[in-house]
Amino acid sequence: MRLFVALSLPENVRWQLRLLCGGLPGARWVPPENFHITLRFLGEVDGRDAEYVDAALASIRAPGFQLKLAGVGHFASGSRVKAVWAGVEKEPALQHLHDKIESAVVRAGLAPDGQKFTPHVTLTWPKDPPVPKLQEYLAGHNLFRSEPFEVTHFTLFSSLFGSEASVYHAERSYALTQRS
Ligand code: 2AM
Repeated sequence: MRLFVALSLPENVRWQLRLLCGGLPGARWVPPENFHITLRFLGEVDGRDAEYVDAALASIRAPGFQLKLAGVGHFASGSRVKAVWAGVEKEPALQHLHDKIESAVVRAGLAPDGQKFTPHVTLTWPKDPPVPKLQEYLAGHNLFRSEPFEVTHFTLFSSLFGSEASVYHAERSYALTQRS
């Protein structure tokens, strides 16, 4: 099955993100129930490896923390815009959690990711948005800030391709320790 590890977002934050979903002609926006912060994309994983990953994730001990989303940005490959996203305010505990998850996944036998972690919430994977519209969108939402929210757990999701949008299912959640 196709798996990824992510932080889910509280409803109030998802509603705030929803307000960012407009203003790019032709874009298909991620439905609010699908918003998440990917910590590690695992891709296709067979049942046995999924069990190893689950056991390794369950052994992680890391403290909970508070996060805030901030600003918008995009990923591009050459001149092609790949994703438009909401950013995440810098939080060392998030990078720490990411690093622990990466180590756990490698310990479980999967190949290392090797990519720099840029936390974000994808809003759309647009199809060739007109450049001026994209610039206008990015400038117009630069000051976006979400309500702060507590991160108390992370989740292993499975993903199925749907006709409109992917369908994500929370396979298992892993608690973070209480903040001191
Ligand atoms: P992103 O939206 O946070 O960038 C579930 O499919 C999530 O896994 C996506 O939302 C995407 O995260 C990430 N993902 C999907 N395909 C991927 C790929 N080929 N490489 C890296 N991450 C991927």
